[in-house]
Amino acid sequence: MKRFGLFLLLSSALLWAASTPVEAQPAATAAPQTGQIATSPHWWKDAVIYEIYPRSFQDSNGDGIGDLNGITSRLDYLQKLGVDAIWLTPIYPSPQVDFGYDISDYENVDPQYGTLADFDRLVAEARKRNISVIMDLVLNHTSDQHPWFLESRSSRTNPKRDWYMWHDGKMVNGELEPPNNWESVFGHSAWQWDAKTGQYYYHRFYIQQPDLNWNNPQVRKAMYDVARFWIRHGVTGFRLDAITSLFEDPSDTDEAYVLGPDGKPVINAFGDKEVKTDKTDNLPEVHDVLRELRQATDAASGRKVVLIGETYLRSIDDLRKMYGAHNDELQLPMDMQVGFINKFDVALFRQRIRDAETEINGDEPLFVFDNHDNPRWDRYQTDAAGTPIFGYGLHHDDIGRVIATILLASRDTALMYYGDEIGMVTTPPARKQDVRDPIGITGWPKEKGRDGERTPMQWDAGPNAGFALPDAKTWLPIPPGYKTFNVAAEEGEPDSMLHWYEQLIALKKNDPALHEGEEILLNTSDDHVLSWLRKTADGEAVVVACNFTPQPQTVSFNLSAQGISRSGLTTLLKTPGAPDPQSADSVQLGPYGVYVGQVR
Ligand code: BGC
Repeated sequence: MKRFGLFLLLSSALLWAASTPVEAQPAATAAPQTGQIATSPHWWKDAVIYEIYPRSFQDSNGDGIGDLNGITSRLDYLQKLGVDAIWLTPIYPSPQVDFGYDISDYENVDPQYGTLADFDRLVAEARKRNISVIMDLVLNHTSDQHPWFLESRSSRTNPKRDWYMWHDGKMVNGELEPPNNWESVFGHSAWQWDAKTGQYYYHRFYIQQPDLNWNNPQVRKAMYDVARFWIRHGVTGFRLDAITSLFEDPSDTDEAYVLGPDGKPVINAFGDKEVKTDKTDNLPEVHDVLRELRQATDAASGRKVVLIGETYLRSIDDLRKMYGAHNDELQLPMDMQVGFINKFDVALFRQRIRDAETEINGDEPLFVFDNHDNPRWDRYQTDAAGTPIFGYGLHHDDIGRVIATILLASRDTALMYYGDEIGMVTTPPARKQDVRDPIGITGWPKEKGRDGERTPMQWDAGPNAGFALPDAKTWLPIPPGYKTFNVAAEEGEPDSMLHWYEQLIALKKNDPALHEGEEILLNTSDDHVLSWLRKTADGEAVVVACNFTPQPQTVSFNLSAQGISRSGLTTLLKTPGAPDPQSADSVQLGPYGVYVGQVR
């Protein structure tokens, strides 16, 4: 399996591996206690953030592509689910080569998704429901159609020439070649020849996504102005795209090759010899930008804006640095260490969760298990060789409950992806001619692209799954399982995945131990069951146990070492059909079973 985030990890040879302040509004319905909306600098702590891929959430105008008015029409659903914030992947005007991550105007909305007025209405309606809106901010690169780049490429003397990464080629045996062997994450050389001005430009992603030059102070100011613009439109957070790749090593020398077990360079899905990313990723200057951006957003919002980082990093030490030496950088760098282990290995999960507890100075971890770049959690069902079997497998729901429980019952801010809550599965295209994501075309068949995790939201069992009008042609096909796995069906089933999520989110907000208790790992030699305790200073305690195996398991908890002499349990949540334990001495778990109980 290879997908985007994983790809970055593999590239590093790490297989292991407003100025308009927002006011609180009363909840419109008796939903789980939301209300953490941006009224304080720490509103995002313990929050549940819901990622929306706007193209695929809800179409309101019949073109088969999701839009802002569609999202607004589904806010009641999100409020009932209990989410505190929605993160929208890019909605700016864009040629859509990378489905919005190639931006041609940072201060407007792409007509496919609506208008700026639609955006303002979305923010206002979300606020009424105590839901914050987080924008995706793409700082590393623009579209090649952005006026800045059009100017930059117009001549070597244009004032914007230095806004991008231009470089001379080098002559090798009489042939002109790119300056070095750096590769695009999306395949092949990261350098693109520009015949008109006789230089190469650098693009970490698609050719149509030229990298900005972050050494240029005008670039920095222009982007901080973009952040201020959206804060004026009521945004209370930014998810910083590809934030670790802002800078490149000025020596411009070749990267080393990633070597396989046979000592030879690894050939990646694009047929390239894979290079390391030591000179193009996570350079120390990134931290200077993070501090400046934080100062800008803090000042513009009265410290109400949260900065979230897309941070695929090599180690917990690198993750810790992202918070800043004085908590002056990102409030929430994504902890990919836990969510992208990609196999049920109890010891590894325990280690990574412990790291999040002990190695980031007590800061708030942000856990995430999937997104628009990586397969959904059905990837945890594997064959004997560990290869994922995407789809509704035997233990689909059970595995989903395990993942949801780790995400929502841990001491963290939880980032979930639309459709997780109804158990949507990864549905990659079966034929190359159906692929929409360009990397799936370049990399077919080894890399099928990211369409599989971007399919339309399944709202009901009717035509187009309620995502679009019945006669619309949806931009990606509706996955086959939608008649069973959809919001309407699951709302009516007490044991559905949707109800599991709703209950977990309600517990995260309302149960004192699960809301703010410290986290202590339990039974740390158990290879089958991951267990932990959440405990407050005034004695509220909850145990959580997740069976990582398809065999039934029984666990017992001796909590005396944690200063708890009680052993009675009151069930808060458990896998449907499992027995109710009488005490912490014997908790029975079915295959991939989950138990959450209050200690009394
Ligand atoms: C986004 C991807 C995008 C890439 C280039 C990533 O980190 O999540 O979807 O293709 O950045 O902008």
